[in-house]
This record gives sequence, structure tokens and C-alpha cells, in this order.
Amino acid sequence: MKISVIGSGNVGASTALFLAEKEIAREIAVVDIVEGMPQEKMLDMLQAGPVEHYSTFTKGSNNYADIDGSDIVIMTAGLPRKPGMDRMDLLLKNKEIVENAAASIKKYAPGAVVIVVTNPLDVMAYAMYKATGFNNKKVIGMAGVLDSTRFRAFIAESLNVSMKDVSALVLGGHGDDMVPVKRFASVSGIPLSELLPDEKINALIDRTRKGGGEIVSLLKTGSAFYAPAASAVLMAEAIARDEKRVVTAAVYLDGEYGAKDVYCGVPVILGKNGVEKIIEVELSAEEKTALSKSVESVKSGIKSIYGA
Ligand code: NAD
Ligand code: LAC
Repeated sequence: MKISVIGSGNVGASTALFLAEKEIAREIAVVDIVEGMPQEKMLDMLQAGPVEHYSTFTKGSNNYADIDGSDIVIMTAGLPRKPGMDRMDLLLKNKEIVENAAASIKKYAPGAVVIVVTNPLDVMAYAMYKATGFNNKKVIGMAGVLDSTRFRAFIAESLNVSMKDVSALVLGGHGDDMVPVKRFASVSGIPLSELLPDEKINALIDRTRKGGGEIVSLLKTGSAFYAPAASAVLMAEAIARDEKRVVTAAVYLDGEYGAKDVYCGVPVILGKNGVEKIIEVELSAEEKTALSKSVESVKSGIKSIYGA
């Protein structure tokens, strides 16, 4: 098993560290355009192995040829959001970066499953799918795991219970109109509605929707990276170990949930083939409306770069 990470910035380097610590792959290659940075970070990480008790060989480079033969590629290269910047502002610049990476992934790792992290997420996952020409089950966007883990962390904090016992699912695109589904939130199987009043749940949902922006306004020089990296690694682990994990991920929809030719966050089973199955659940009228609104906003992003 070889995993490559494109981009050695905040998300890319944290992703490599979580991957190394979990020993998901023996070899991790990290590629960035900044000279010396991926080499330094990966050499540093390699040297932490004996102390941290991981035996993962990390290597950084400025050469895409080093992703050769990867089973999984995690795409984190791109410009991060700055304060006041909307995710859509990043669209054109990041599309170019994604297309660049896609050409190399096609060339050096044609059998890989690609996990896209670059924002605006759903549109960039679509761009990666288009540019690689890979089977759409092998190009997957990471956002649902992150949005859901934020919701779970806020629920756990609010109830003062273990994070491990909280389940939640956030559907839709990775934008302010994402859809945290109240009905799907529970604590050890107990519906959240039994444990918290509606106004409190709505406040947690609102905080989840604005979760990325809250971090940006604190950090000022960039966006979140620990939780995003952990989320991408959960997906990589599910694929590498064929775990059949049930998570929300941005996947290509071809009629599922009434949407076509778009990437958007829905529940899926992740295993060695990438998306093994899209799980279609019956949504209420209100949930359906919210999901369609979110799908439409992803579609308008796609339309703005690909035309009608
Ligand atoms: P960062 O600026 O710390 O790192 C980005 C890295 O990409 C930089 O080191 C840069 O040199 C590199 N890069 C730029 N062009 C490249 C190219 N053509 N090839 C290789 N490397 C290249 O940013 P970050 O905080 O790591 O965020 C990375 C991306 O992930 C951003 O687009 C951000 O918005 C996105 N993100 C998405 C989510 C999500 O939920 N999907 C969460 C957090 C961040
Ligand atoms: C986030 C951004 C960066 O949700 O997508 O943190």
C-alpha cells in the first residue's frame, strides 16, 4: 500500500502525520511546489517514527513522478480560504491546480482512488473526476466526515458526554447550506431530540454550518486543518483496509437523491473500490428541499466553470 498526498501545507502535512501514526501505508509520498518544504516536513516526520513507534516511510518532493504506483492519492493542494473569502472565490485558481494534479495522477497512479480535499470541495471533486476521467466511484470528496465530526463534537460538548458515543450525519454540499439532519443525530442510539431541546439543537446546527468560517476568523491566516486531515485519513483508512465504513462523502450523483451529474455529500459505504454503494434514505419534505438547495448551489459552481 502506497498513499500520496498532494500539497504539504497545513492539511497535507497533518494528513501525512495521521496516516503515518496509523501505519495505514508503509510508504507515503508528499508532493508540493514549494522547494524544500515537503522534503523537510517528511524527513522530520520520518525521524519521529522510532520515538512515536510508527514504521511509515515518509518522503517529500517537488516531483509528481514520486506518486508513482500509489493506491490512494489525497489531494490537498490549493489556496485556503482567507477571512471574508467565500469558498466559491477559490474556484478558478483551485480548478487549475486540481487539473494539474489530475494529469499527473492519471500518468503515475492510474489505478488510485482519489480523495479530494481542495475547496470549493464539491466542485473540485467534480473537476478531479472530469480531469482524470477515472470511474466516478474512485474520485471522492471529503467534507461530510468533517462537517459531521464538527456536529458530533459540539453535541458531545453540549451534553458533556463522550464524543465516542455521538453519531451524526451532515448531508449536502460543503457550504453554508449543508444539511445536518436532526433525525440522524443520536447518542448511543438515543435520538438527540430526547436529550436536547429543539432551540439548542438548532444552535448546534447553525454552528456546524458555520464551522469552517469560525476557524478562519480565529486563525486569520488560513483555515482548519487538524479535523479536515483526520477526516481525510478516516476515509483513506476505510479504503485501504476495506472497512465498509458508512460516512457522508461528496460523490458523483447520477439520479440518486434526484440529482444528476453533480458531486454532493450523501451517505456511502467506503471500501477498497472507493464508493462501494450510495445509501439512499427516505428524506422528509423539509430535508429534501434543503438538500436540493445545496445541490443547486454546487451545480451553479460547476456551471460557472464548465458552462451549462
Ligand atoms: P495551505 O496553504 O496550508 O497548503 C496548500 C499547499 O498547496 C501549499 O503548500 C501550496 O504550496 C500547495 N500547492 C499549491 N499549488 C500546488 C500544486 N500545483 N501542486 C502541489 N502543491 C501545490 O492550505 P491548507 O490549509 O492545507 O488547505 C488546502 C486546501 O484544502 C484548500 O483548498 C482548503 O480550502 C481546503 N480545505 C478543505 C476542507 C474540506 O472540508 N474539504 C477542509 C480544510 C481545507
Ligand atoms: C472548512 C473549510 C476550510 O470547513 O472548508 O474548514
